[in-house]
Amino acid sequence: MSTATLPKDFLWGYATASAQVEGSPTADGRGLSIWDTFSSLPNVTEDGLSNATGTNSYSNWAADIALMKSYGVNAHRFSLSWSRIIPAGSATSPLNPAGIAHYQRFMEALLEAGVEPIPTLFHWDLPQALQDEYNGFLSARVLPDFERYARVCFDSFGHLVKSWLTINEPNIFAVLGHCIGAHAPGRSSSGEGARKGDSLKEPYIVGHHLMLAHARAVAVYRKEFAQKQGGKVGIVINGNWAEPWDASEESKQAAENHLTLSTLWLSDPVFTGDYPPLLRKLVGDRLPTFTAEESALLKGSSDFLGLNHYTTFYVRKRVTPIEDGDWQNHFFGENESTTTAPDGTEIGPKAGLSWVRPVPWGFGKLLRFLWRRYDRDVWVTENGVICPGEKDMSKEEALQDDFRIDYFRGYIDELAECVKEGVPVKSYLAWAFADNFEWQEGYTAKFGVTYVDHKNNCEMTPKKSAWWMKEYMAAKMGLK
Ligand code: NOJ
Repeated sequence: MSTATLPKDFLWGYATASAQVEGSPTADGRGLSIWDTFSSLPNVTEDGLSNATGTNSYSNWAADIALMKSYGVNAHRFSLSWSRIIPAGSATSPLNPAGIAHYQRFMEALLEAGVEPIPTLFHWDLPQALQDEYNGFLSARVLPDFERYARVCFDSFGHLVKSWLTINEPNIFAVLGHCIGAHAPGRSSSGEGARKGDSLKEPYIVGHHLMLAHARAVAVYRKEFAQKQGGKVGIVINGNWAEPWDASEESKQAAENHLTLSTLWLSDPVFTGDYPPLLRKLVGDRLPTFTAEESALLKGSSDFLGLNHYTTFYVRKRVTPIEDGDWQNHFFGENESTTTAPDGTEIGPKAGLSWVRPVPWGFGKLLRFLWRRYDRDVWVTENGVICPGEKDMSKEEALQDDFRIDYFRGYIDELAECVKEGVPVKSYLAWAFADNFEWQEGYTAKFGVTYVDHKNNCEMTPKKSAWWMKEYMAAKMGLK
């Protein structure tokens, strides 16, 4: 264990998201979301299963909280389902008191258990009605609808919340949902019917509206609630570190291009009020423009930066040709990521999912970079891994998740070193509390520190990592 420690008020715990854990898609008046619809289509998820079960947390929430408490956490990140609170989603459609009451009970119970609730307003489960009516985040019509939804949430739950997260990973929602088509609403240039899109333009339109939706929600909070409720609000971006593949200027530029195209695209605007100049150079007029008024609303609209971080890649100028229909690579253009260094060594060991390799030093580089760039607190809102082969393991095997323990140890140590240096990192919320519905992977990708038996009423069993983490965090924070 590295000797760097963490302060006693450091927030730590686990994260979840409504569409991945709640299940009960039509209970108590809830409206459908785009993930209910999308994940029910054939050939969309790896195991053919939809998110209709999740981990059954809508009904089992009290047991979830009891388990979480036994894990020693002091915070819990989760998301609110917009269509549970406003079933048809729009600014003029009725609220659902049963949905609101559910989240109130949930947050009160968290607080009673000594766990701080950290809700996310939007973790990708847009009300289906808004997708049907105007194509969701492709239209600016979503802005007043989101603003009203945010106001309802601040009004109903704000007395229980000190830290709000607005939008989860706007970059991933934009690209996977509107370029590649692997996430809801499933649009891409190769799509058909309602899923026919424009993979190179739509992500930028969606990203633009997500930025404005965030800014409007924050403006509502600051104007109408902050004074009496005293909380903070921030956005959550997804950021992997891009390490130049070699020392050449070409690789350095490729890495900077990649980080800009994938991450800074939708984090710069909330601090500077505009897209990064390099992005405009790379993307040209596919990138929308903020008006002076919008830019003023966006600038400084995040009290801190929420960061979901999983891994690091080497990036170099592209050598592998892009194939037809490979929209992701068309989107990221002339920069190519790889896990292999020029001398053939791998950047980190293989995990149970192709896109995550443990590379703790990359996490440190990114934390320092973001702090230098934005000079704001960074909240780690997700970090986690799947063990090699975990997908096909028996329960007994899956409970012995030493690979996950090594991953967490590496990342937490790196985080603590950054804190020691003075980088203001305020939280570590690991992904995930329990194995859950992992989007296009269905239930096959298991990120949890809790094993979930989906065939047995989602019975939960702690993995070794849950108990390890409890001890490790207590030691780091000087609580034992
Ligand atoms: C980020 C997303 O926010 C979360 O929903 C997802 O399950 C994890 N990454 C793992 O892929």
